[in-house]
Amino acid sequence: MVSEDLRKLDQLICNWLNIVDDILPQLIEEMHTDTKKDRFDLVTNVDKQIQDHFQAFLKTELPTHQLLAEEKNNDDIQPYEGHLWIMDPIDGTANLVKQQEDYCIILGYFVDGAPQLSYIYDYPHGKLYKAIAGEGAYVNQSPLLPPPTLSIADAILSFNPHVLNDETIKDLFQSSFSYRIIGSCGLDSIRVIKGQFGAHINTNPKPWDIAAQFLFAKELGLKMTGLDGGEVDFGQGGPFIISNPGCHKEVLEIMNKGRGYQK
Ligand code: IPD
Ligand code: CA
Ligand code: CA
Repeated sequence: MVSEDLRKLDQLICNWLNIVDDILPQLIEEMHTDTKKDRFDLVTNVDKQIQDHFQAFLKTELPTHQLLAEEKNNDDIQPYEGHLWIMDPIDGTANLVKQQEDYCIILGYFVDGAPQLSYIYDYPHGKLYKAIAGEGAYVNQSPLLPPPTLSIADAILSFNPHVLNDETIKDLFQSSFSYRIIGSCGLDSIRVIKGQFGAHINTNPKPWDIAAQFLFAKELGLKMTGLDGGEVDFGQGGPFIISNPGCHKEVLEIMNKGRGYQK
């Protein structure tokens, strides 16, 4: 049974996402890019301003809620206590900069460590994916159903070949139907959620890359685990897979075969 409070909160967030629709075109038009760790690690004014806007919104509307987000310092955050939002203001920043497509906003809401609301907003395609604890998942207003079971032989797998050793890549290619990567952890995960991909693997995601996926996986009967098969800590991040239940075991067996997936 979903509480009235959770419904009101969902409505509040949907209203905020409507405001995003109004401000994003201008932000994108004025886009300028900076680098962080290296020339491939990009951040733009769009990332920063969307996050700042949400932070200001929380301060006004929900002042007791904490925000753990990519483009801010999170040293004072207690992720496992009280009301927590985890945000990736733009997931797939390289896609935004290079292609102006295939990026999203990720939001996950946790209460005392339990996921309650999740959003993956695919702005360029006008699709809001959301999950509500105890109720299910939606794309825009339409319910999402658990995807049909996919065996590894029939599945498209999504992973970053740059971070896996040759043996693991070869095994994944040979065992699966095919391989694709979008380059946004949120949108690669959505393909699994919709049954288009069998699994998406990220060997080093941060909390904001995977914040929303916990609840989608729970509501739709998908597997979301560490690459060792154990639990993923939403406050820390770490190696993860989101998978159709029909191929999770087989993909993990390949990842952990021999000396493992690392280079
Ligand atoms: C990145 C994307 C990418 C994934 C990286 C993330 P960002 O997020 O999700 O697909 O492979 O691990 O850091 O930097 O675009 O928010
Ligand atoms: Ca990200
Ligand atoms: Ca980001």
